[in-house]
Amino acid sequence: MKSVWQAPSVQIRPRLADDLPAVERLADLIRRIDGYPGYLPGSLRDFLVTDDALGAWVAEQEEIIVGHVALHRRSWGEVMRVASESMGLEDGQLAVIARLFVIPEARQQGVGLHLLNSATAEAWRLGRRPILDVVANLAAAVRLYERAGWKIIGTVEFRHPDGRRLPEHVFAGPLPGSYRGSA
Ligand SMILES: CC(C)(COP(=O)(O)OP(=O)(O)OC[C@H]1O[C@@H](n2cnc3c(N)ncnc32)[C@H](O)[C@@H]1OP(=O)(O)O)[C@@H](O)C(=O)NCCC(=O)NCCS
Repeated sequence: MKSVWQAPSVQIRPRLADDLPAVERLADLIRRIDGYPGYLPGSLRDFLVTDDALGAWVAEQEEIIVGHVALHRRSWGEVMRVASESMGLEDGQLAVIARLFVIPEARQQGVGLHLLNSATAEAWRLGRRPILDVVANLAAAVRLYERAGWKIIGTVEFRHPDGRRLPEHVFAGPLPGSYRGSA
């Protein structure tokens, strides 16, 4: 997929293999600052590069990567079950927006929304309905999804290996052309 959004200083473009060290550093920072991801069974590289990816994009500002998003075939079982039942679709008709994060210095400028919209547009282009899951206490992310026209279709409980039970919202994306700020 070619570049999907451009503003004077920020470009959303597909992630390249050469971007991975920078994206990994960014993910490490976000993990320490925001606690996302809250559960990391493997390495950050494994978190970013997965077999089920349909695409991944970065947001670049003056040649510095400031944000990232990916589109996956699936999330964990309970999320797919809730989405599939609620939407009346098979897993193969869905695509999961994942690995969304923006460096703190570049937040509040619409970068997160445009990364979200880029991955959403690609899901629709592939003929899949976009969904995502988010730990309920990631308040900025939940606000972003709601403002972007996404709807909560269920809440599941993620059992963290440390014993915590973390509520996770499952969201369904808006219809093509109706999402806020769509390019
Ligand atoms: C969630 C996250 C990606 C949002 O990124 P972002 O780039 O700040 O997102 P946006 O700029 O599109 O929207 C954020 C806010 O900025 C505001 N905003 C957007 N453009 C703006 C502008 N030009 N001027 C002022 N404010 C603006 C939005 O209205 C929104 O306000 P709100 O938080 O009060 O609702 C970011 O906070 C993050 O990386 N969080 C940690 C990781 C995380 O939780 N990821 C989600 C995992 S599921």
